[in-house]
Amino acid sequence: MKIAILPGDGIGPEIVAEATKVLDALDLPIEMDHAPAGGVAYAAHGHPLPEATLQLAREADAVLFGAVGDWRYDQLERHLRPEQAILGLRRDLGLFANLRPALCYPQLAGASSLKPELVSGLDILILRDATGDVYFGQPRGRRMAADGHFPGDDEGFDTMRYARSEVERIAHVAFQAARRRRRRVTSVDKANVLETSRLWRDVMSEVGKAYPDVALEHMYVDNAAMQLVKAPKAFDVVVTGNMFGDILSDEAAMLTGSIGMLPSASLGAGKRGLYEPSHGSAPDIAGQGIANPLATILSAAMMLRFSLAQADAADRIEAAVRDVIASGLRTADIHAAGTTRVGTSAMGDAVVAALRAGQLPVEV
Ligand code: IPM
Ligand code: MG
Repeated sequence: MKIAILPGDGIGPEIVAEATKVLDALDLPIEMDHAPAGGVAYAAHGHPLPEATLQLAREADAVLFGAVGDWRYDQLERHLRPEQAILGLRRDLGLFANLRPALCYPQLAGASSLKPELVSGLDILILRDATGDVYFGQPRGRRMAADGHFPGDDEGFDTMRYARSEVERIAHVAFQAARRRRRRVTSVDKANVLETSRLWRDVMSEVGKAYPDVALEHMYVDNAAMQLVKAPKAFDVVVTGNMFGDILSDEAAMLTGSIGMLPSASLGAGKRGLYEPSHGSAPDIAGQGIANPLATILSAAMMLRFSLAQADAADRIEAAVRDVIASGLRTADIHAAGTTRVGTSAMGDAVVAALRAGQLPVEV
């Protein structure tokens, strides 16, 4: 098994180091090659996704990604910004299905900003198209407006577009995922305003006919944003486009207690996938050893399950994370009175210890 490790910027290297520590502890024949991506790659090679990094990712069975983004590069042209590393990988590798499972461990219910009873035991899947929409639609750019409400003015424009086959393939992923869960799909759009959403809604309904055992409902994105904080446990699979999914998945992350808990997988037509925490590079806390590595460790578990056919190892990692949480260890983002605050690497060590022992790493 060959995986490409792209730690990226900010807290990326710290959290990825904990995930590779956990992978090492499994004693599986995994070859890991590291490569730069994001701001660090721009600084060293003049591009956020250098050709050598892309090549490594293309040749690997899976990519384990940290995070990218650095305020020092905010003023760069769009195609050189650190974010282009992740966008370019999703696009180049055809990883259109971005799975973001939001699980709230009962012990972390108190860490959420919502009432514990609303989120405790939450288990929803946000499924986001990751290669289409206004993120990639052409034409886009900056120009002097020739028409519109402000002719002659400096103007920025992007194009939201979706093709039927793009919606069809993500719809199938949604319905199939729902079959392995509670058989409910909520498709989120803005069909009361947008043409792309009208198409999205039509196609979701059509594909849904092939899955009569799965309940499909449609919801406008503004209402979905509200329902997610009002009654999050009413959802099972939420499927939506790239832009809405970006926003709703951050919202869903907070339901779990902390965005530091939310893993993600990006999958395409084959087995190859890209795995990354749903959170960003958090430059404000980079280098302090306080970031929560669990989202990245859980992303590595998803990688073992979806790309490397190692479901048992994935289960073991997820059980180890549950044990560590049950034992009361917490990084700063999920810390609460009565629990033990630990740093990034101590958290990784605890997961490794739980994995080895198959039991609690410390006394509760
Ligand atoms: C995410 C991130 C990315 C996105 C950024 C870093 C480009 O916010 O993975 O959710 O918008 O997709
Ligand atoms: Mg995002």
